[in-house]
Amino acid sequence: MTIVTTIEDLRRVAKRRVPRMFYDYCDSGSWTESTYRANEADFAAIKLRQRVAVDMTDRSLATTMAGQAVAMPVALAPTGLTGMQRADGEILAARAAEAAGVPFTLSTMSICSIEDVAEHVTKPFWFQLYFMRDRAFNDRLIDRAKAAGCSALVLTLDLQILGQRHKDIRNGLSAPPRFTPATLLDLMTKPRWCWHMLQTERRTFRNIVGHVEGVADTRSISSWTAQQFDPRLDWDDVRRIRDRWKGPLILKGVLDVEDAMRAVETGAESLVVSNHGGRQLDGAPSSIAILPEIAEAVGHRIEVLMDGGIRSGQDVLKAVALGAKGVFVGRAFLYGLGAYGQAGVTQCLDIIRRELDMTMALCGHRDILDIDRSILRAPPLSNH
Ligand code: FNR
Repeated sequence: MTIVTTIEDLRRVAKRRVPRMFYDYCDSGSWTESTYRANEADFAAIKLRQRVAVDMTDRSLATTMAGQAVAMPVALAPTGLTGMQRADGEILAARAAEAAGVPFTLSTMSICSIEDVAEHVTKPFWFQLYFMRDRAFNDRLIDRAKAAGCSALVLTLDLQILGQRHKDIRNGLSAPPRFTPATLLDLMTKPRWCWHMLQTERRTFRNIVGHVEGVADTRSISSWTAQQFDPRLDWDDVRRIRDRWKGPLILKGVLDVEDAMRAVETGAESLVVSNHGGRQLDGAPSSIAILPEIAEAVGHRIEVLMDGGIRSGQDVLKAVALGAKGVFVGRAFLYGLGAYGQAGVTQCLDIIRRELDMTMALCGHRDILDIDRSILRAPPLSNH
C-alpha cells in the first residue's frame, strides 16, 4: 500500500492509475515547458525565516476570497476535462472542496455540467467562463451559473488562442480521442479507471463537454470548441460580462502590471496572477515572480489572487506573504483525484492545510491574516 504524505505521492499514484493520454494532459505545459517548470522552481527558491520562542497556540487559517469565508486561502482551480482524470471528477472534487470549506471552480470545459454539480453539493461553487464567439452561449452559461446558485464568476483571459502542448498531440488527445494500439494497450493497464468510466457512461461519453448544447457527436464538439475561443476578446467585452454578472467577478490570467491596471478599471472584485499553469505562453515568467509587482501596483484597489506551481502548504504561505489574498490549486488536486477520487482530493487539501499551518507556526505566526513579507528572507526572489 502506498503511504501518502505529500502531493508528489499523489502524483505518482495518479500516473499509475490514469490513462497516459489524460495524465499527460494534466502534467504538461506548452512547448518547452519552461514556464511550467519555473512556476514550481521559483517557489522552491524562496526562503523562510525561522522564528522561535513565540506562542504558537490557537492558530487560524480562516480568511476570505472574493468576499466569501474560506477555511484556508485556497480554492480549486478550474480545470478542463476533470471528469477524464476520474469518472464524475467534477462532482467528486466539488464535494471534497465543500467538506474542506474551500471553493470549487467548475470549468466551462467540464464533463459534468453546472446542473450536474449543483445537484450533488449543498453550498455554492464558482463557475469559470471562457469567452466564446457565440455571445448568446456566453450569456446562457452566465444565466445557468446564476440559476444554479454559483457564488462567483471566474473569467479566464489568457486563452484567446490555445497554447500548443506537444504531449497532447503525440498522445492523440482530441475529441473523440484518437486511439492507437499504444493507447489501447495503455487503457488495458488501467482497469480501475475503465471500470469507473463504465459506471458513468451516461455523463462521460454522451456529454463530452457538459455545457455544449445542441452539438450531437464528439467530432462536432471538437471543431465547435476549436472555432469558439474568441481571439477578439477585449476589455469592452470584459466590461459587458461585468454588467451581466452581478456577483463577484474574478479575472484570471493577468501577468502584467499594465493589464492589472486595466482589470481594476473593469470593476472586477479580484484578479488572478496566472500563466495558466504554464500551459499558454511558454517563456512567460512564473506567477510567483510577477505576484509582488502586481500586488504592489493594484493590491489596494482589487483583491489579488494567484496560481501556478502550488504543490504544498509552504507555497501557499509564500504566495500570501508576497501579496496574494489566496491561491488556486490545479494539478495538485487533479493528482489526488486521479489517484483516489474524492478521497484523494480530500487528502490533497489535508496535506496543504497541515503544511500551511505548521509552516506558519514555525515562522512565528498564529493567524494567516497577519502574514506579510516579513516571514521571508530578503530578497525573496534573488534570481529575478
Ligand atoms: C487548467 N487550467 C484551466 N484554466 C481555466 O481557466 N479553465 C480551464 O478549463 C482550465 N483547464 C485546465 C486543465 C488542466 C489539466 C490544468 C492543469 C490547468 C489552468 C488552471 O486553472 C490553473 O491556472 C493552473 O492549473 C494553475 O497551475 P497549477 O496549480 O496546476 O500548477
